[in-house]
Amino acid sequence: MQNNKKQSARTVILRPSVGNATANTEMPHPAAVAKQIKRATCLRPGLAIVLGSGFGDVASALDLDREIPFGDLAGFPETSVAGHPGALLIGRMVGVPIVLVWGRGHYYEGHSMHTITFPIRVLAAFGIKALLLTNAAGGINPKFQPGDFMLVRDHINFMGENPLRGYREPGLTQFVDLTAAYDTALAGLLRNAARTAQIRLRTGVYLAVAGPSYETPAEIRAYAKLGADAIGMSTVPEVIVARQCGIRVAAVSCITNLAPGRTKNPLSHHEVLDMGKKVGPAAIALLKNFVRLYGDTERKGEKSNTFGLEPARRI
Ligand code: HPA
Repeated sequence: MQNNKKQSARTVILRPSVGNATANTEMPHPAAVAKQIKRATCLRPGLAIVLGSGFGDVASALDLDREIPFGDLAGFPETSVAGHPGALLIGRMVGVPIVLVWGRGHYYEGHSMHTITFPIRVLAAFGIKALLLTNAAGGINPKFQPGDFMLVRDHINFMGENPLRGYREPGLTQFVDLTAAYDTALAGLLRNAARTAQIRLRTGVYLAVAGPSYETPAEIRAYAKLGADAIGMSTVPEVIVARQCGIRVAAVSCITNLAPGRTKNPLSHHEVLDMGKKVGPAAIALLKNFVRLYGDTERKGEKSNTFGLEPARRI
């Protein structure tokens, strides 16, 4: 009995579910892992940024206090994809305390939805209030060019899975409202950040697929009809979990390539990574400006539009 109690305080039980690789598995409790991070650093940032392909160089703008490889954090995904290292970097950027999540686990690597979103749960338990997710994406909107940045205004989940399926945690609803998943105040800061850096920031709908194969031209034509402006293989599960945890969310895509059928050139992961490297300086300028503006807003405490969002309510 006592043993059971101890276990339930430190683990989250994932419900058995048919056809799910995580059936019956136990994960560490996010709060236990957050405690480990709190022991490693005195900083208590309110802001975190997940650096996807195209944004990895932003880590160079961090005044690093502590680097913790994913491998040292229980429950974090192992990352196996070139261009996605896998570490938490805690420090200050333009003087603002921040967590950079350097790389991410992807569903297409074979991880479960629960595993790829576990770092978001840990960030919430660590005290993160605002999250910027970045990614590489293929441009579906015919106006988009490789090298453009796109502010995500909404998403379409075409991954065939949902990270809240089978995940139960007392106090958190599974039936998360995504009407306004992307925070308008954070989006405003990103627009200002882009303007100051003289970077053109497109706006659009991000459609997420499971991957890892790229799409057929027929699929891209279909997704365009559904209202997608860009396509990628990440971010949406993290957005859903962040909203469940009451974290404010914004997302920016780097359009690394034109989606299949939009160009005659064959598409490769190298092309995606190469464009990611080329946009490095612009990505750094955009995110540094964003962090500066976020820091200003946080300092002002903005009573009318506070960044201290309440966690998702129980239903
Ligand atoms: N399709 C899916 N995912 C992607 C693409 C793409 O064209 N580019 C970068 N990630």
